[in-house]
Amino acid sequence: MPASNPTASREPATAPADNPSGPGGLPAANGAPDAGGEMLSPGALDAMTRAAAIALAGATDLDALAAVRSAHVDGRSAPLALARRALGGLPREERAEAGRRHNEAAAAVRAAYDTRLAELTAERDARVLVAERVDVTLPAEHDPRGARHPITAITDHLIDVFVAMGYEVAEGPEIEHDWFNFEALNFLPDHPARAAQDTLYVDPPGSGLVLRTHTSPVQIRALLERSLPVYLVGPGRTYRNDAVDATHSPVFSQIEGLAVDEGITMADLRGTLEVYARALFGDGLATRLRPHFFPFTEPSAELDVQCFACRGDGDRQPCRVCSSEGWIEAGGCGMVDPNVLRACGVDPERYSGFAFGMGLERAAMVRHGIHEIRDFVDADVRFGAAFGIGG
Ligand code: DAH
Repeated sequence: MPASNPTASREPATAPADNPSGPGGLPAANGAPDAGGEMLSPGALDAMTRAAAIALAGATDLDALAAVRSAHVDGRSAPLALARRALGGLPREERAEAGRRHNEAAAAVRAAYDTRLAELTAERDARVLVAERVDVTLPAEHDPRGARHPITAITDHLIDVFVAMGYEVAEGPEIEHDWFNFEALNFLPDHPARAAQDTLYVDPPGSGLVLRTHTSPVQIRALLERSLPVYLVGPGRTYRNDAVDATHSPVFSQIEGLAVDEGITMADLRGTLEVYARALFGDGLATRLRPHFFPFTEPSAELDVQCFACRGDGDRQPCRVCSSEGWIEAGGCGMVDPNVLRACGVDPERYSGFAFGMGLERAAMVRHGIHEIRDFVDADVRFGAAFGIGG
């Protein structure tokens, strides 16, 4: 076999991975008239099969295998393809036998190729599995989830209930003028609430500014700003000069309610408070009003809501929710004092109204079994996640 065999010189173009010395021992595909016969001889076909096997074994990845496939398996100039084309040139009597030999060789090469393809595919898959492995036991990275504060959740819930009854939401500043916080609400100048041990005054002395001690000044602002009738709820933060303990905090939240219209009576107050109680503590609880005093309402009362846990039933006591009182103190209320209406330019002969102011931390503590009022101001997201979401 001459080294300048044209078949061998054509091979590297399609089979770079092939034996560099060319398909040694292979007969010429063209040239000598009996070339076809030689190419289909058992020895030649055997050599092609072996050359293919060597090339297949030498292919170490799927790209290399693709090159070997075209050079040895089914490429147009693969030796077996050339040999197949030579079949037609054989004398009839040799053709069947040579065709059978060729088929066998081609089937053997195809089978060897399939085996190698399966091996290399499996290797590739295994490599990819390792390279792209995901350790599902690693802690996942995600943004920590926030939570609504329980006071926000309760406030939003109450606002929903009152807005559904036609109320508006009103707000006022947390740094409030003495006149709105006390004076217009009919506090006498020497009322104990005005003492420094109860109220946080804002510097400089004589500024007339206090951190509002309740949300009631929102009543005054609303009556001055809005036209009648007025139906509003005013949620917000309030401040008192209280030392911190489990149930006291210098900052806490209230929701104020005010209705001023013609013909408002205490029956309207009663019914409205029942809606409030139901919204906070659930259906079917009794409410009661205990006489009390507030400068800005006359008459004034404190609202108690029947304990949702024991319902005052001795068989279900001792009760941790209400300390076995059977009632939960909810807040203050009453009929708006005519002096307040007058301070806001409202004619008490024509208009009357009711008001209420409820502490929200206490309500949340009772409702959720929270024991420390401090938790409300600690800003720990776990507190909100436990008690705030969903209201
Ligand atoms: N502002 C009162 C307080 O903080 C609560 C209150 C009582 C509000 C009676 C009212 C009311 O609107 O009518 O103690």
